[in-house]
Amino acid sequence: MIREKYTKEKEKFKTYKEVFDEPTMRTIHKLTNEGHIEYVMGPISTGKEANVFLAKNSDDEFIAVKIFRTETSSFENMLKYIKGDRRFENIKPRKKDIVFTWCKKEFKNLEKAYNAGVDAPRPIISRDNILLLEFIGEGEIPAPTAKKNPPKDPKKWLTKILNMIKALYQKESLIHGDLSEYNILNFAEKPILIDIGQGVLKDHPAALELLKKDIENILNWFKRLGLKDIPEANKVYKEITGKKEDG
Ligand SMILES: Nc1ncnc2c1ncn2[C@@H]1O[C@H](COP(=O)(O)OP(=O)(O)OP(=O)(O)O)[C@@H](O)[C@H]1O
Ligand SMILES: [Mg+2]
Repeated sequence: MIREKYTKEKEKFKTYKEVFDEPTMRTIHKLTNEGHIEYVMGPISTGKEANVFLAKNSDDEFIAVKIFRTETSSFENMLKYIKGDRRFENIKPRKKDIVFTWCKKEFKNLEKAYNAGVDAPRPIISRDNILLLEFIGEGEIPAPTAKKNPPKDPKKWLTKILNMIKALYQKESLIHGDLSEYNILNFAEKPILIDIGQGVLKDHPAALELLKKDIENILNWFKRLGLKDIPEANKVYKEITGKKEDG
């Protein structure tokens, strides 16, 4: 029985060999020794840069474990968002350092979301390429993305999401930078922002362009959902930043 369980565990990790390389296993081990992780249960998602797993902590609570792959991430793309961020000056352009910085950046951005009162998973800890987060779901079932489960009340959601963009910008000087229905979870009809690693501060060279893109993505999505009376992107942009349309 034990042997069978062990083989199963080994199989589970083998499938994810690319994710669970030796340094990553060592980091998991450290996090386990410190009580942050009790055991990893199974995959929630395989994304472009990271894999997300369901786990339990030593208080028997579910947590999400986001593991950034250190070999197959798009480093060039990551660097675009890291350079120009005064929180991460002097980063060495080595693959490993880029990914570790990216992971820390998502942690810090999630802290900012929390401080701004914006609904996003609470960050627990970031270590190397591993980010531990509050798990968003019911029991062990993760909340679906808003792409998969669109809101029942789009009007209410649009207002909420625009207020989230505004709170991030005005209270914490942060722009999500990849906002869309794919990076919003529908948690019992409540929007939860996720995947905020690329988020930049408002003095980043690409900040305003990213903010515009976020606003447009959201407005277009609600248009596709059939919502009427959608505000103009420029008006929203101006209200959030206090700037003129092209400022
Ligand atoms: N805290 C969480 N609680 C529950 N599910 C989560 C959580 N974080 C992420 N997920 C799930 O994992 C998926 C991927 O997460 P995320 O978007 O942060 O990573 P990613 O690697 O950037 O993925 P992608 O490339 O698909 O955007 C999400 O769509 C969601 O289904
Ligand atoms: Mg994502």
